[in-house]
Amino acid sequence: MPLCYDLAPMNTQDPRHRRPQTIAVIPGDGIGPEVTVEAMKVLSAAAERWELPIETVTFPWSADHFLETGETLPPGALDDFRDNYSAIFIGAFGDPRVPDMRHAKDILLGTRFGLDLYINFRPVKVYDERLCPLKGKTPEQVDFVVFRENTEGAYVGAGGQLKRGTPDEVAVQEEIYTRKGVERIIRATFEYARAHGRKSVCMADKSNVMRYGHELWQRVFAEVSREYDDIESWHLFVDAMVMQMVRKPEQFDVIVTTNMFGDIVTDLGAGLQGGLGVAGSANLHPGRTSMFEPVHGSAPKYAGKGVANPMGGILSLALLLETLGHDEAAAAVEGAAARSIREGWTTADLGGDLSTSEVGDRLARAVAATVSAG
Ligand code: NAD
Ligand code: IPM
Ligand code: MN
Repeated sequence: MPLCYDLAPMNTQDPRHRRPQTIAVIPGDGIGPEVTVEAMKVLSAAAERWELPIETVTFPWSADHFLETGETLPPGALDDFRDNYSAIFIGAFGDPRVPDMRHAKDILLGTRFGLDLYINFRPVKVYDERLCPLKGKTPEQVDFVVFRENTEGAYVGAGGQLKRGTPDEVAVQEEIYTRKGVERIIRATFEYARAHGRKSVCMADKSNVMRYGHELWQRVFAEVSREYDDIESWHLFVDAMVMQMVRKPEQFDVIVTTNMFGDIVTDLGAGLQGGLGVAGSANLHPGRTSMFEPVHGSAPKYAGKGVANPMGGILSLALLLETLGHDEAAAAVEGAAARSIREGWTTADLGGDLSTSEVGDRLARAVAATVSAG
């Protein structure tokens, strides 16, 4: 079942239907390049095994590139992606030499906002019981998906500072929500739940305090949920949600929430899965060029040491393959990662003793050797 289910009638301009399917690859900073190399090894293995019409083009945009050239994301890059690429794969951004994250704002948030990728799809799945830090919880009990709104909220960068550096300093940072923006993410969540046989959608906000923005979420959620009476809809304030995610994660099936809350609850979700090294994500606008990236950041202290776990990137690659219509290859990539985790062939964060590249090599070999289901 394609992840990127169509919400609109088939669009002949849909980049997923182009041949060849060209993927823009932006390895980025810190451990980003290392995990990207491994994800690309697995992609090559899958492309060869299933004769996929895929090619990749790698872009150097990163903190290094910014410090050398002053360039973050070149003008026209997003138009090029939208018009000429089927998908984008990103490693990670963040470098202590660029403390204001200016380059990441342009490249990472620029891609999410500029391509209007309004769904940040983040599955929380335990591939082996031993990885979940919750006592006695099984993989069946921790298996949910977070739909994080990805183009509004606290991330729009609205605000300013007055009298900076003085005792009278004032800082304003606004959250912005639009009726259309809230409605489309909530609708996409219910559509996904219905298409994937999920039973319930839980919306998290802080509408008891945020009486304007989050009250809009409440109203829209109530309205849209009435159109999906086959799906149970329920609500938690986000503070209660994070407590419940730890106490009783089996309550959750599909979660929808704001941009900032989605950022926070999905790190907690990654913790339930065994850590940030194993969490993948997709930034989607159904029917358009979308972007895939691990949930983790650039982990600068691990960069260049060969210890970073490439699974988050590789599971993001599985989501990319699924979105491009290569379901069998996607299932093989995820299956190879799950088996490797269960058998202990992992980096140290998951208890194993393999290096980043040894994990990638192993998964690429497993994917290449996949025996067809049919
Ligand atoms: P981080 O995700 O980079 O690392 C936090 C911790 O998680 C690490 O110290 C490590 O213990 C663990 N971890 C993360 N990825 C791992 C992996 N692949 N394998 C094994 N362990 C892993 O978060 P941070 O330290 O808060 O941020 C570092 C930089 O990354 C900052 O500049 C931050 O802004 C940025 N960041 C970027 C992204 C992104 O590019 N999407 C996401 C989060 C943070
Ligand atoms: C993430 C990251 C980003 C975010 C940062 C690096 C801008 O934490 O992808 O989860 O907050 O969205
Ligand atoms: Mn985050």
